Amino acid sequence: MLVLVVLLLSLAAADALTAFPPKFQVGKLNGDVVVKCDTSEPWVTWTLDGDPEPMAELVVEGRTLTIRGLDQPATGNYSCWAGPVLLDTTYVVVSDAREEGVNVSCQAESYRGSFHCFWSWPHSAVFRARLTRSDGSSGEWVPVSGHRGRFSAGFTDPSFCPFAEELHPLQLQLEGLSDTSYLNFSVHFFIRDIVRPDPPQELTVQRRGEQLHLTWAPPASWPLPKSYFALLYRLQYELPNGTQAFRYVEGAEELELQEQAQRVRISCRDPYANPAWSPWSAWKVIGAARR
Ligand SMILES: *[C@@H]1O[C@H](CO)[C@@H](O)[C@H](O)[C@H]1NC(C)=O
Ligand SMILES: *[C@@H]1O[C@H](CO)[C@@H](O)[C@H](O)[C@H]1NC(C)=O
Ligand SMILES: *[C@@H]1O[C@H](CO)[C@@H](O)[C@H](O)[C@H]1NC(C)=O
Ligand SMILES: *[C@@H]1O[C@H](CO)[C@@H](O)[C@H](O)[C@H]1NC(C)=O
Repeated sequence: MLVLVVLLLSLAAADALTAFPPKFQVGKLNGDVVVKCDTSEPWVTWTLDGDPEPMAELVVEGRTLTIRGLDQPATGNYSCWAGPVLLDTTYVVVSDAREEGVNVSCQAESYRGSFHCFWSWPHSAVFRARLTRSDGSSGEWVPVSGHRGRFSAGFTDPSFCPFAEELHPLQLQLEGLSDTSYLNFSVHFFIRDIVRPDPPQELTVQRRGEQLHLTWAPPASWPLPKSYFALLYRLQYELPNGTQAFRYVEGAEELELQEQAQRVRISCRDPYANPAWSPWSAWKVIGAARR
């Protein structure tokens, strides 16, 4: 799992944005912001969050509105109108020096070029994300849904090749807008560093005399062929006196156990890349031996 601390900013929120606005502009606190109305109309009127009252620090000239000394009350939804007809809308936010850390974690369950990322942001905000792929091309911005300040999104790099060594890291760019402020950060990583497989499947236990014969299968999401995409398996089992023990298996999907285990579970990882173990399978309870 990749954990990055990214510095960004925040301001207290007023009304919640529910979607990433198509057009937005970021200004510095106390700086000037010029908002242009995209129209051929020579004269327009402006509203801020639907309110037609012009604020003292706004200067209107034709299709251009200048915000002098941007502060929090001057942020929001600037719309220009020709009478009752809405012409254009720009969301204005402030980029401020107040900084906070955000942890972005990304995980892939295999080498297929798909992964997902998650992060928390305590303030009401909307996010969008864009992936710069392994071939250097940029994807589209995609909106990221959040719930109670927790955000997660899945991404796929269509140019990702599971058989080639990754030469360049992927870059994920994230933009967040709270009602008054803008945040912008990016994370870089290799898929090989964020792979955490799903748990192995179909763990079965058979008694063979005094021995236990265990078999299992790789996670369904793990790519083939096995000779290329190897897995190291870790089995944990519990003895009748409660002691727990581990066995490691590479290059096979079975194991003979001499001891009288009561229950067993299994996880796996890529033996060569970043050592993130998969989650454990559920415990498999083993019936008592017949006497
Ligand atoms: C901004 O205001 C316009 C006009 O009222 C509205 O159509 C638009 O949805 C608003 N945009 C946002 C992001 O609130
Ligand atoms: C980010 O994650 C690290 C490790 O998980 C943790 O120590 C740190 O407090 C986190 N920072 C924030 C701002 O959540
Ligand atoms: C967001 O960050 C990127 C990279 O640091 C930068 O190029 C871009 O201009 C930033 N966008 C805004 C709106 O500040
Ligand atoms: C539990 O049993 C195992 C195997 O029979 C033995 O090696 C181990 O010492 C025992 N542990 C305890 C705490 O009794």
